[in-house]
Amino acid sequence: MRLRAVCLATALIFLLAISLAAQTGSNVQSSSAQATKPEIKNVPARYTDPSSGKEMYLAYCASCHGADGKGNGPAAPALKTPPTGLTQLTAKNGGKFPDAHIAQVIKGDVVTAAHGNKEMPVWGPVLFWLGQHDPAQQQLRIRNLTKYIESIQQK
Ligand code: HEC
Repeated sequence: MRLRAVCLATALIFLLAISLAAQTGSNVQSSSAQATKPEIKNVPARYTDPSSGKEMYLAYCASCHGADGKGNGPAAPALKTPPTGLTQLTAKNGGKFPDAHIAQVIKGDVVTAAHGNKEMPVWGPVLFWLGQHDPAQQQLRIRNLTKYIESIQQK
């Protein structure tokens, strides 16, 4: 019994020592990395406010479609098919904003190669993960994102 307690205590001290060493080790590493090259941080997909179409647009769409919706986001040059300019949707649809179609594109019901599909989507999953157990929130996100795109239409 006593032997077991001693063993346990030794193991704990050992673990503590390792974690301290690991901490100081990583501190040293990150400060030297900062001095030499920029650190690449892997961060989870950003949470956005379901009530802000603009926030969702900037977080999930602007990289390709551009912050102004004109199709010139920073990732656009890497794509074979240029991202659709999203400010001309009404003009190209005879003066009526194609809201049902846009909602389907956002949901992933209309497949475009650059968006991926529902099984392997490029951005769609974010909207679905965030609202996975809450269909009302999912609806809200799709509606507000669609409305935001409607708001950037050029006459
Ligand atoms: C990885 C880059 C990329 C991202 C991110 C992206 N798109 Fe696209 N999108 C494209 C490309 C490229 C096309 C043109 C596809 C084609 O013509 O086949 C397109 C087409 C579209 C279209 C037109 C589809 C049609 O049927 O006319 C809409 C609407 C659209 N995207 C909305 C969005 C929205 C909203 C988001 C964010 C939730 C988004 N896209 C995110 C690359 C992207």
